[in-house]
Parts: sequence; structure tokens; C-alpha cells
Amino acid sequence: MLSTSAPQRAMPFASLPNMGEEEFVRWVDLLERRTGVLVPPGRKSFLVTGLRMRMRETGYDDFQTYFNEVLNGVRGAMEWATLVDRLTVHETRFFRHEPSYDLIAGEWLPEIARPGSSGAIHAWSVGCATGEEAYSLAMVLDRGLRSLGDHRMYFGVTATDISNAALSVGRIATYPRERQAEIPEPFRSEYTELQGSDSFVISESLRKRVGFALFNLLEVARAPLKQLDLIYCQNVFIYFARERRRKMLEALASRLKPGGLLVLGPGEITGFTDPSLTRVGGRQTLAYQRLG
Ligand SMILES: C[S@@+](CC[C@H](N)C(=O)[O-])C[C@H]1O[C@@H](n2cnc3c(N)ncnc32)[C@H](O)[C@@H]1O
Repeated sequence: MLSTSAPQRAMPFASLPNMGEEEFVRWVDLLERRTGVLVPPGRKSFLVTGLRMRMRETGYDDFQTYFNEVLNGVRGAMEWATLVDRLTVHETRFFRHEPSYDLIAGEWLPEIARPGSSGAIHAWSVGCATGEEAYSLAMVLDRGLRSLGDHRMYFGVTATDISNAALSVGRIATYPRERQAEIPEPFRSEYTELQGSDSFVISESLRKRVGFALFNLLEVARAPLKQLDLIYCQNVFIYFARERRRKMLEALASRLKPGGLLVLGPGEITGFTDPSLTRVGGRQTLAYQRLG
């Protein structure tokens, strides 16, 4: 809620002004500094549409006044928390990049869950959006561990994102029915249940293994998560400036335990090397394992 001194009258969308170049640069810079997400000039309309939508809801009719409001102390921080959801892309799918899940199930997991092994596998879905990636990971880990048999291993997935609205969808774990087809068999039958005629829900046993939390990736150096077995981060760094990607990746990789796996999206970065990591998997994947 904005304070009572803030404008509250909903503006007609079309009557909101166009954004000048200087104004655009100011917003791009704010978003980049706070989230890492870089909006190139070709995506100006995405930024302007997101801002206009939110300005219309809160009754602002010029970008400069709204910009000042967003910078305005606690009130501005609360407004930013809502706005950031409108200025970030949450496009996602279950099993979005199948070769990455095949790598986890077919190569990495059998090495980690050898007969007689015990303990827990801690996975982190970074930039999880509305949860599809985290649940896909949980399905692969659950089924994979069961199929490998002779061990006593538990697993949990922590799913984080900068958007509270996206995380809420993940927590509810209910998705439109047509999206169920994204989940390949046998995972679909085992881990999803129809709910009414229009939606499906992730099974309770799997939901218990996935926890959602608000977390800004730019603060990775302060993340409480460490000694992780698996970090899965796809379609997040592609929105970041190239100069930022390497540093952020090094910081993420430092959160892995020896033998831990970092799985990125294939287009996330080129030519990344780190002396503590070795590249694993084939050409279709971009994954690194921490040396022991
Ligand atoms: C395109 S979605 C990708 C979702 C999923 N990883 C996938 O590949 O399907 C990108 C997500 O990254 C999140 N994101 C962007 N910047 C972030 C940051 N600084 N910290 C945490 N999450 C961020 C966005 O909110 C969005 O949900």
C-alpha cells in the first residue's frame, strides 16, 4: 500500500506519457543496479509497459514522480517489491531443458548416490520463477534416487527468486491443466493430480521437498546456502550484463561442495572457466562439477 499522500486515482493507460531517452536510462540503471537485469534499448517497450501498468494501478501519471516514489525510503522499498515483478521475465516450463535433467539423472546422480551411501542432497533452483523448474528437479531427484536403490539418501530443493508474486504461485503448486503435458511420463502420472477441470496440482509428497524463498541473486555472497550438491540456474544470467555474469557464476560455484554440480542454461555464458570446476556433460548442456 502506498501512503495516503501518494496519488491513488487510476490513470487511463493511453493517457500516460511516452518515456524520453534520459528517463529510460535512469530506469534501466536502477533496475540493473538492484537486480542485475539489463534492459537493452530494443526492449524499451517491455520496461515502459511494466511501469505503466504499475503506475496506472497506483495512480501516478509521470515517470519522474513515480521514480522518486520508488526511491522514497520504506514506502519506496515496498513499492519496489511489487514493481520488480512487473519488470522481470518469468517465462518458464516444466522440464524446460531436458538434456540438463538427463545429465542429472543419468550421470551425476548415480555417482553421488552409490550403493551404501547416505546423507542428504541439497539442491538450489536459482531464479525459479513460478516453481516449474524446482518441481521438475524434485521429480528427477525423487525418482532417480528411488531407482538407484541401495542407499539412504534424502533430498530437498530450495527455490529462490526476486519476485514474490512468482514465488506465491510456486508455493500453491497449482497450474493450468494444459501445462500438464509439459511433464513427461512417468513423472506426470506419479507426481501430479488433476484438480477440477482446469488445473492440476503437484503431489503433496513432492511439495514437501521444495521450499520457496525470496532471494536476490546479486546478494549471493551473503546467501545462507552453502555446501550444496546441486545448483540449477537457467535463463537468469542471459538477462544480466556480460561483465556481471562471470563474477556471479564464480560466487554461485563457491556455494558447491566438492563433487557438486552447477547446471546452467546452454546460452548463459561463453568461455567460462574456473580452476575449482571441471566441465561435465555433452555439448547439449552447460554444466560444471566442483573438484574434490
Ligand atoms: C526467465 S525466468 C527463468 C525461470 C527458470 N529458471 C527457467 O529457466 O525456466 C527468470 C527468473 O529470474 C528471476 N530473477 C531475475 N533477476 C533476479 C535476481 N537478481 N535474483 C533472483 N532472481 C532473479 C526473475 O524474477 C525470473 O523469475
